[in-house]
Amino acid sequence: MAHRGHNVTCVDIDEKKITMMQQGISPIYEQDLEELMYINEEKLGYTTDYKSVYKNADAIFIGVGTPEQPDGSANLSYIATVARQIAETVEKDCLVVVKSTVPVGTNDKVEQFIQDFLVNDVNVQVASNPEFLAQGTAVRDTLEAARIIIGTNSIKAENTLMAIYEPFGLPIVSVSRRSAEMIKYAANDFLALKISYMNDIANLCELVGADIEDVARGMGFDSRIGSKFLNAGIGYGGSCFPKDTKALDYLATLHGYELRTVKAAIDVNNDQKILLYKKACQRLITFNGLKVAVLGLTFKSGTDDLREAPSLDNVPLLLAQGADIYAYDPIGSENFRRRFPETSSEREVEYSKGSIHYVRSAEAALDGANVCFIFTEWGEIKAVMPEDYNRLMRTPLVYDGRNIYDVNEMRESGVEYYSIGRK
Ligand code: UGA
Repeated sequence: MAHRGHNVTCVDIDEKKITMMQQGISPIYEQDLEELMYINEEKLGYTTDYKSVYKNADAIFIGVGTPEQPDGSANLSYIATVARQIAETVEKDCLVVVKSTVPVGTNDKVEQFIQDFLVNDVNVQVASNPEFLAQGTAVRDTLEAARIIIGTNSIKAENTLMAIYEPFGLPIVSVSRRSAEMIKYAANDFLALKISYMNDIANLCELVGADIEDVARGMGFDSRIGSKFLNAGIGYGGSCFPKDTKALDYLATLHGYELRTVKAAIDVNNDQKILLYKKACQRLITFNGLKVAVLGLTFKSGTDDLREAPSLDNVPLLLAQGADIYAYDPIGSENFRRRFPETSSEREVEYSKGSIHYVRSAEAALDGANVCFIFTEWGEIKAVMPEDYNRLMRTPLVYDGRNIYDVNEMRESGVEYYSIGRK
């Protein structure tokens, strides 16, 4: 927003994050973000004092989390908190823009909620403006977005949002608030479905002797299918697809409808995440006392985010089997260590068996290992050559959840190699 000429003040309740940002440090790992913060320093402010910011704002964008609740529904308590703070502090007409992913109908409720708590005699409208950036490519996805979706219920709100996005020079799709809310879920769930479909086909490929990479390549040339998001693998993770598939399924159930396609995507993904672990269990008598190299912990490369990462499903299974894990991730190790500390004094709950160590290179993880699992497609992991597995590991047995290597090259290097959808 600042890069496109607007004056922006970022508000958060977390003082630590705000202090970091005031010093030009991004609290998350995201390529090019700090540079952009630096370039636009003059147009950017950071504060925990929301009152001073909300009272004079022309537009307030809400981008708080809407995490999954145990029943699959989205937790809207953070949205409600912010909406109430806005209602109690705005002193002039303003547009509240909901960027957070929220179930269809939430914008209507937010508008009513603000109305109910409004202190001053001002006009506050609410618009939906879902976000389509992906982690790791956030800056590029924002500045070069394929489209901007704006959902409004009045000409005034539509004009304000149009004016805000005009300097971006990107296609704008203007729809109703409910349609905008639905576009976000429908788009994410379609991509999740696309991945689960490819994972399902990959598993069948293995059984019938076809190669999923070739199949995906052949499919992708058809522009009706498109070549993106056809990568079979260890299942989708992250803060969005797992949560948004479950939330849409929940919304459908609330309305007495069964969303069978999305349910199927969720089911396939749950199985896919532990597919390689299960294969390894068939191959090995036990993990007890084995040195297990885990390469990659984050849900994808380019981010330090661990939410719904396949590593979180697999590491506890391996530990419970008594594995001695040596994990490497170029960015995500520190976050992972907080959940799975190395030393018992740091642990809230003791591992019943097994142990975990964090190392600074893929080579260190592989050194003397009996088996290796690849969970993330980091460049640093791709740089490990097939012969390195043979040279470094005690027994070169590799389970690759990201299809990083050529099957034949691995075999020729003497590696017993299992991947997804390829014999
Ligand atoms: C996703 C969407 O791609 C964004 O458009 C959306 O804005 C965002 O969610 C959101 O709702 O905020 P993100 O979760 O950051 O973005 O990451 P993706 O690149 O979409 O990857 C999600 C998961 O799918 C990862 O675990 C990735 O490894 C997996 N994936 C992706 C595959 O397994 N195969 C593919 O072909 C592509």
